Parts: sequence; C-alpha cells; structure tokens
Amino acid sequence: MSQGSIEVYESEDRTFSPLADFAAVALAGDDSLYTEAEADFEAFWARQARALLDWHDDFHTTLEWDLPFAKWFVGGTLNVSHNCLDRHVNAGRGDKVAIHWEGEPGDTRTITYRELLADVQRFANALLKLGLRRGDRAAIYMPMIPELPVAMLACARIGVAHSVIFGGFSPDAITDRCEDAEAKLVITADAGYRRGAPSPLKPNVDSALAAGGPTVEHVIVVDRCGTDPAMTPGRDLWWADLMAESAPDCPAEPMDSEQLLYLLYTSGTTAKPKGIMHTTGGYLTQVCFTHKYVFDLRPDTDVFWCAADIGWVTGHSYIVYGPLANGCTSVMYEGTPDTPRPLFRGDDRGGWPKDRLWDIVERYGVTQLYTAPTAIRTFMKWGEEWPAGHDLSTLRVLGTVGEPINPEAWMWYHRHIGGERCPVVDTWWQTETGGHMISPLPGATVTKPGSATRPLPGIFAEVVDAGGAPVGAGGGGHLTVTRPWPSMLRGIWGDPDRYRQTYWSTYEGRYFAGDGARVDDDGYFWLLGRVDDVMNVSGHRISTTEVESALVDHSAVAEAAVVGAKDEITGQSIVGYVILVGKVEPSEELRQEIRAHVGVKLGPTARPKAVFIVPDLPKTRSGKIMRRLLRDVADGRDLGDTTTLADPGVVAEIRDRAAAADDED
Ligand code: PRX
Repeated sequence: MSQGSIEVYESEDRTFSPLADFAAVALAGDDSLYTEAEADFEAFWARQARALLDWHDDFHTTLEWDLPFAKWFVGGTLNVSHNCLDRHVNAGRGDKVAIHWEGEPGDTRTITYRELLADVQRFANALLKLGLRRGDRAAIYMPMIPELPVAMLACARIGVAHSVIFGGFSPDAITDRCEDAEAKLVITADAGYRRGAPSPLKPNVDSALAAGGPTVEHVIVVDRCGTDPAMTPGRDLWWADLMAESAPDCPAEPMDSEQLLYLLYTSGTTAKPKGIMHTTGGYLTQVCFTHKYVFDLRPDTDVFWCAADIGWVTGHSYIVYGPLANGCTSVMYEGTPDTPRPLFRGDDRGGWPKDRLWDIVERYGVTQLYTAPTAIRTFMKWGEEWPAGHDLSTLRVLGTVGEPINPEAWMWYHRHIGGERCPVVDTWWQTETGGHMISPLPGATVTKPGSATRPLPGIFAEVVDAGGAPVGAGGGGHLTVTRPWPSMLRGIWGDPDRYRQTYWSTYEGRYFAGDGARVDDDGYFWLLGRVDDVMNVSGHRISTTEVESALVDHSAVAEAAVVGAKDEITGQSIVGYVILVGKVEPSEELRQEIRAHVGVKLGPTARPKAVFIVPDLPKTRSGKIMRRLLRDVADGRDLGDTTTLADPGVVAEIRDRAAAADDED
C-alpha cells in the first residue's frame, strides 16, 4: 500500500493525560523506566529478564549482536511452560483461574492454573510417547478452544516448536507450512463453531496431507463439535484417548534461552509466506514485560481479555504467553462478536444480537480489553446502544492493535466502551517483533487519538528518509528500529538470506518494518500503514503477490493485478483485476468463480471483495503495472496523470468496467 492512499486525521491538539490512579505498577507518572533503559538498554533488559522470569541457569551475557543475528540472555536456561504454569502453582496460586473460556454456543469452562498444568503435563507426555523430541516441529490447526493453549504449552514444555496455522486457512496453507517446517505432527479438531454452525477443520487437514507434507506421522484430533470426521487408522488419534492413557507428571525441561519456541508464518511481499522464528528467553521477557506495563496489570484482581485469535501473533503473545507468564486471569472466546444468542443460559430470544462482547465483559468483569480498529469500526456501525445495554464499569484499560486507528474510532472506543475513564493504548508491533514496540504506558503517557505515541522503554525506533537519515519533528518516512530487542525474530525459517534481505538491507544497520510513519513536534509516532505490497485487511496481513498467484492459478486467468482499496470497516479490501486467457468470454459467473477460487486457495480472509475482468492492465512503457492507477480506480479517485502509460485508453476502459460491476458481498 502506498503512503499516499492513507488519510491521516491528525489533531495533535487533542490530548489525554494519564490519570493519577494509574500506578502502571512501578511507574507512577514518572519516566524512570525510560531513563533507566536509555542509560543502558542491555542492563535494563537483563534486570527485567531476572525480575519477571524464573531461570533454571542464569545467563552470563545479555546480548550477542552480530547484525542482523541476535542472541539474548546467552548461557541462560529456562522453560516457558514452567514460567507460565508451575511457578504460579508452586507459589500457592494453583486455584486461581487461568482461563475463563466461553464457547460460541454459550458453553463455558473455568480452568485454574492447577488444572491447566495437569492437562499440559498429560499432553506433553502424549507427545513424548509419539516420539516427538526437543527441536522437532508440530503444526497446530485448531479453533479457539482450551486445548489450543494446552497444545502450545505442552510443546514448549518439551522443546518442540509449534507452528499455529489460523483456523480460517485452506488446505494449501496447511500443506505449505507442514512442508516448509517439516512438521512431524498436526494437532487439530473435528471442527470449530463459527457463526452458529460447526466449521470443519479435520477434513482440511486430510486434504492438505493428501497433497503433501510427507514428514507428518500423526494427526491428533479434539472432538469439539461431534461431527464424526474420517480417521485414518495408525495416523489419526483422538485427543481424549491420548490424554486418558497418558501419565500425569512431565517435568519441564530446562531449555536454552535461544531454543526455538515457535514458528509463525506471515505474508511478505512474495507469494511464499515466511516462517518467522521466535525463541525462548528474550521472547518471554518482552512479552511478559509489555503485558504487565502496557496494560497496567494488577495480576491479583484483573481479568484480561485479548479478543484476537491465537492463529495470529497477537493471540500467541497476549492470550497465551504474556497473561500466563504474569499469572493473571484471562478470558478466551471461541466465536465472533455477532454470533447467535446463546441458548445455554435460558435466553430464548434467538437471532443475531450484536452485544456478545459486552455481555462477556459484564459477566466476567473484564478489566482490560484488547482488540483491533476494524472491530471497533464495526461496533461503531452497529451503534452504541449495544454496549450501552451492559455494565462495562469494570474496564480499566483499552488496547488496540493491527492497523492505524483513525481518531474517530479511538474517540468512540474511549467514550462508549471506556466511559471516558479508561486510557486507550494503541500498540504498534508486528509478527516479527514478537511483542509491543511503540505504545503508551497508561500511567505515564499523554495520549493523542491516532498516535501510538513513543517507543517503549528499551526500544529504539526512528523514522528515516529515503537516504536513511532520521527525519526531524514534523517529518515523515519509513519506520526503522535501531537497536536489537529481546523478542525480535531470530530469522526466517530455513532462509537466513531472505531474513537479511527483507529486514536489514534497505537501511544500513537498521531493521526496516515495512511501515510508513510521521513524527510530530512532541516526538510522537503516527503510523501510516504499509509502504510495500502488503495489504492489511481487518488487521490481517495479505500480500498482493500471494493473491495474484492464486488468481492466475485459475485456468481462465492469464494475468492478474491486485491492490488494496480503502474500506470503511476492514481498513483495506482486496480488489483484483484479471485478464482472461485466449477466447474465454467474461461473465458474471466467471467473476464470482474466480473470486471463490482465491477463497479456496488462500482462505476466506484473502477472497477479493471484487474481481474485475479487464482487457488489459495499465503498464508503463517498461512493462511495470501501474498499481497507483488501479488503486485510484478501486477508490474511485481522479486518475491524475496517465501520460507515462503505454496505452492510456486502458484505464478508461477499466474504470468503466469497474463502475458497471456491482460491488461484491
Ligand atoms: O502495518 C503495521 C500494522 O500491522 C503490521 C503487522 O502485522 P502483523 O505482523 O500481522 O501483526 C499484527 C499484530 C501485531 C504492521 O507492520 N500494525 C500493527 N499494529 C499497528 C499497526 N499499524 C498502525 N498502528 C498499530 N497500532
């Protein structure tokens, strides 16, 4: 996406000061953490690592930095599962609720730290019995059910790296990820509930493994919906059977601080997703630190809710690892915000009410809510009467993540959800950064709606111009990170050159995040969106090339170009322009078929909102597709100068066809 296509509603004069009762744990409105980190960032992180986590062996070196390869807390050993579970139980907090889980149909489970630890140990033993060992990889393709964090923590307990694949992804995505990571195991469920009905998962795993993934030896299946999936004898095993046969105790093995904790695949600018690598000690330190300070956590009394999906990094860091490492109580919800009214609690109104989230906040007494701007804009569209019908007075801090938040949405969130008393923390970070990077601290930072404010203590970021020189106040350019940070990605699985090339080659010595940003007179960062060919649809990263490849994979398509168009709710929406092969005739059915084809190849999130069949694509005389023009057509903007085009008539024709076609969905 180009910077030019993003509107920034700035109003730097609108500010919100921190409230006095936000102690932010150790930082009562003063800048002590910032000052400490500024003076010696390695010492700062070393102190946090020792203060926040239990180490089996202390580390001897805080950071080994051989640009762009980092090792944090070298020589240290620890276990993530021990830090998330055992230490809380050992300290007498076994009866504390770890997870209040709510299924989409309204079924609920309350899971204490002791119960979670017991399940994790049993499942870790099951994995060992199946022959999984430290250094192996397991793919996880599950709905938002408690077995998902159990599977992740069991992997971490024995040093198996997990690769969670979002439940909305298609079989192709499962095959690719299993093959790239050489996964030995897939953990899945028969199906998960989605908008009132079971949405099958196990059949997708079967199709995926029929197409490839030869290293997969077993598939473990949770029976979530009772859909009775086909089971391949010898390969497929029921979760419940394994748990029943498994021994109860499985000690947490000390892991090297740099042991691979997980892979998470994310879209880049090419068709092949990248396996982002996160390791143990540094990742857990930063995730634990940011979860505690950014959300002003009071672990004894808070009920934290990150309403994301564990299939994305937000769920890894702020549903599973951060909240559990901090020993707090979390909410986990399986479904969508507008699922049918649960019948379980004797409520027979039925229908599709739009207050499910607010009902959950009220019933569990949620204190922090963390969601995405696209969700907030949807709530705005549904109207404030839905939250107004609930008591939301337990909320203390509101968070957002995933894309730039427009100030109107920020203000709505602040007013209608936060009752004008909850600080809003707009957290900028990425799959690659592992944890928050730029965000306010509720007790210390004056906020401005639309700005993620400034880098957190221990994080050093600068906006640079095309030549790599930092821009001054009021300047705009590319966002870079100037020093290593503990939860940074350690590389791209199997491709160190691509790691160097993608993140560290644009500006010497700097990590380039792919985002545009502006800095205001107070040194605040205003994120402007991606500057590369990555789209952001409802906070999900999708590469234009990936969608283009899926379009040309359809037998009727000769050539394709994809752009992200502006969308009021989802931030961006995908628009594809295709040229048909040979004598194939355009038709409405074909347009829909091509759209659906992408949905099947890449999953529903990547299905274009519209596909236009065009006679040609606007290209420069050197043959480069002019995406700017296609974006302008998609956004209905004036086309400006088209004189560099090989055939200016093409654009007029495309615009007419686009105008004639109905908007899909
Ligand atoms: O463009 C930025 C946007 O999301 C991208 C990272 O996407 P992903 O790796 O999927 O992780 C999303 C959840 C961390 C970034 O490059 N982004 C994320 N948070 C913000 C944001 N843009 C503006 N403001 C944010 N708070």
